[in-house]
Amino acid sequence: MKRILTGLQPTGIIHLGNYIGSIKQMIDMQDKYDSFIFVADLHAITIPQDSKELSDNIKKLIALYIACGIDPNKNTIFIQSENIYHTNISWMLECNTYYGELSRMTQFKDKSSKNANFTSGLLTYPVLMASDILAYDTDLVPVGIDQKQHVELTRDIAIRFNNKYGDTFKVPEPYMTKVGTKIMDLQDPLHKMSKSSENQKGVIRLLDEPEIIRKKIMSATTDSETRIIYDPENKPGISNLINIYSSITNMSIKDIENKFKDNNYGEFKKEVADVTINLISEIQDKYYKLLNSNELDNILDKGRDKTIEIAKVKYEEMKKKIGLYR
Ligand code: TRP
Repeated sequence: MKRILTGLQPTGIIHLGNYIGSIKQMIDMQDKYDSFIFVADLHAITIPQDSKELSDNIKKLIALYIACGIDPNKNTIFIQSENIYHTNISWMLECNTYYGELSRMTQFKDKSSKNANFTSGLLTYPVLMASDILAYDTDLVPVGIDQKQHVELTRDIAIRFNNKYGDTFKVPEPYMTKVGTKIMDLQDPLHKMSKSSENQKGVIRLLDEPEIIRKKIMSATTDSETRIIYDPENKPGISNLINIYSSITNMSIKDIENKFKDNNYGEFKKEVADVTINLISEIQDKYYKLLNSNELDNILDKGRDKTIEIAKVKYEEMKKKIGLYR
């Protein structure tokens, strides 16, 4: 079974767009791959974070992913900072990475240009990511377009190290996740649903109260016609609601158009709200149960112990090859 590895930044807000666009795909992949999933908390501190909030978000993120259907029996789940080998390996890789390579990374250029007071962690961020990936002989790294360059750099670093010190790392491939259904902002259906959206009425958070979700869906922007027809170009609002309904119920768009051919927008919105609330309530039930049990800690302890064992072997091998021994 090929091994995949996914790092998640503990950013706080997870919304329906994340669930439909990415978490559902991860759930599909867990049966086909040996899957490692971790919270990239060390990556999060490349920019300033409130410590209490960060700590809360780390556990909450994992609880929410598990509540969504990421199965702890099928995935190795852990927290990056609980495995000291990531940073140790990262240092040895940094000493085999050029400043020029790092300063040319698009994400670095973009983030550093927005704030003149950036840390050196922002620069070396991709090397820590390389260490996350290379420590586990990862075959495939599922990434969106924004992280693809970092996986390519990881390949360059791995190949360079292998050439210099002998075969040490498996050279990973980026695995471009097929673009899942893109869910748009309910208020502004020409733009993606996003946690940083100005108007939070357009964003359905997985931890929103059910009545709030209903309100947001009922007040979603639609056009001035009345028929429920899928036409993203001319009817982006209603098409977005059809996409949401289709993703949640697994009904085809044709069948949905047919089912609601005699209904108006208000009636359709009510149905969309019902299925969405159904799904999200189930997720929330599991989420709050998990947060209030020891189960989460047990899962994370197990993940920590297992990954420390694997990464330690890679770390020792690197040290020996480099000459860091008595
Ligand atoms: N940098 C990734 C992001 O912002 C998170 C991440 C850290 C990651 N380490 C990783 C993703 C290793 C894949 C593999 O989304």
